Amino acid sequence: MNTTALRHALLFGALCATLPAPASAQFARAEEAVKYRQGAWFVLNQHFTRIGNMARGRLPFDARVALQDAEVVATLARLPATAFGHGTDLPTDHARPEIWTESARFREQNERLVAETGRLLAAAKTQDLAQIKAAFGPAANTCKECHDAYRSQ
Ligand code: HEC
Repeated sequence: MNTTALRHALLFGALCATLPAPASAQFARAEEAVKYRQGAWFVLNQHFTRIGNMARGRLPFDARVALQDAEVVATLARLPATAFGHGTDLPTDHARPEIWTESARFREQNERLVAETGRLLAAAKTQDLAQIKAAFGPAANTCKECHDAYRSQ
């Protein structure tokens, strides 16, 4: 790399560091991208389900646990959408090909997930179960809408 290219690379790196972009990983192989997005959703789901069980009265409400869960959910909600690069539609995954042909719509669905899980986190911070219940439904709807459109069985 010559010095001009190096300076550009450093400048680009500095720019990236200052932009509020979601964390996005780099993948050496398509299989890793698939494992990453499935893994992130799997972990998110464990925490999201526990909040749902508290909201539905199936588990005793613990405001501290609900807040920790909501923090994990809001953080992880940003990750999977970064792992749908071209060439990562493998026969073994559960992603429909429309993700790549309607990528603007897919991104928009994901932005709704990020927004609603952000509201769920704000509700969990109030430690008020009624507010958590009110925020849980809209967040869960974003999962269902996207799965109906973009996830295969
Ligand atoms: C923007 C679209 C979108 C949204 C929103 C979304 N999902 Fe998904 N989800 C997918 C797709 C696509 C897959 C399949 C990914 C694959 O197999 O590569 C998936 C897979 C999953 C899986 C299976 C992971 C595994 O082990 O393979 C779980 C669990 C899951 N999602 C939970 C959730 C929950 C809970 C929410 C809401 C809080 C949610 N998802 C919101 C698109 C979405």
